[in-house]
Amino acid sequence: MNTAPVLIDVHKLEKSFHLHTQGDVTLTVLRGLDFRVTAGECVVLSGPSGAGKSTLLRCLYGNYLARSGQILVRHDGTMIDIATAHHRTILDVRRRTLGYVSQFLRVVPRVTTLNVVAEPLVHTGTPVESARAKAAGLLTRLGIPERLWHVAPQTFSGGEQQRVNIARGFAVDYPVLLLDEPTSALDPENRQRVAGLIEDAKNRGAAVVGIFHDHDFGSMVGTRWFDVQPIAKAAA
Ligand SMILES: Nc1ncnc2c1ncn2[C@@H]1O[C@H](COP(=O)(O)OP(=O)(O)OP(=O)(O)O)[C@@H](O)[C@H]1O
Ligand SMILES: [Mg+2]
Repeated sequence: MNTAPVLIDVHKLEKSFHLHTQGDVTLTVLRGLDFRVTAGECVVLSGPSGAGKSTLLRCLYGNYLARSGQILVRHDGTMIDIATAHHRTILDVRRRTLGYVSQFLRVVPRVTTLNVVAEPLVHTGTPVESARAKAAGLLTRLGIPERLWHVAPQTFSGGEQQRVNIARGFAVDYPVLLLDEPTSALDPENRQRVAGLIEDAKNRGAAVVGIFHDHDFGSMVGTRWFDVQPIAKAAA
């Protein structure tokens, strides 16, 4: 029996999109979804395109407002309901508990790669020099050559940008990591490097939820699968 602490506990989550500009159509994407993740697990979301996998991650991160249900995330030892929490609480949960890595790097122009990666750590109060040292370690591990560390990543190749994004997402040892196709532009060697980072995160007790285009990658890093199936998109 799995006795590890529950870090994510979702109850009866319902998510709809109300399309005001398109005849006031309501699209219900998730309904009655129950989902629980414990420390040390990596749950891989499966299901067809458009089923709502990214929507579930965005609800967990508090980017999308749930229509109903609870999204409990353990933060400082207390379960916080992301579905109803004040936005300031959500920002604090994101700063220290919830990491989110999407497919694309979105950063402020002219910030150097080293600082892009170090920034989330600095925001948790880590001194700049130690944050940069950790960032350098991650960039090295992900094969980003040192000559690129002191320039901004805007002009980097797709795979380089994706690795910078992963380094940034793993800079803080977040208790919960949400990964939305973070390896889509990577070659096998770099995927392997990312698999190593996910393995380390699980070993330190993080709860990881991931969407991976590559089924073999999901099988390699995942401890179990969670299937998200499309529901009837009836107007509600
Ligand atoms: N911001 C939004 N506004 C309106 N509809 C949305 C929005 N975000 C997602 N949807 C709709 O919700 C459904 C699920 O989308 P989602 O991106 O979660 O799918 P997915 O399972 O991640 O698919 P894929 O594997 O293609 O990435 C889709 O029909 C999509 O059009
Ligand atoms: Mg998606």
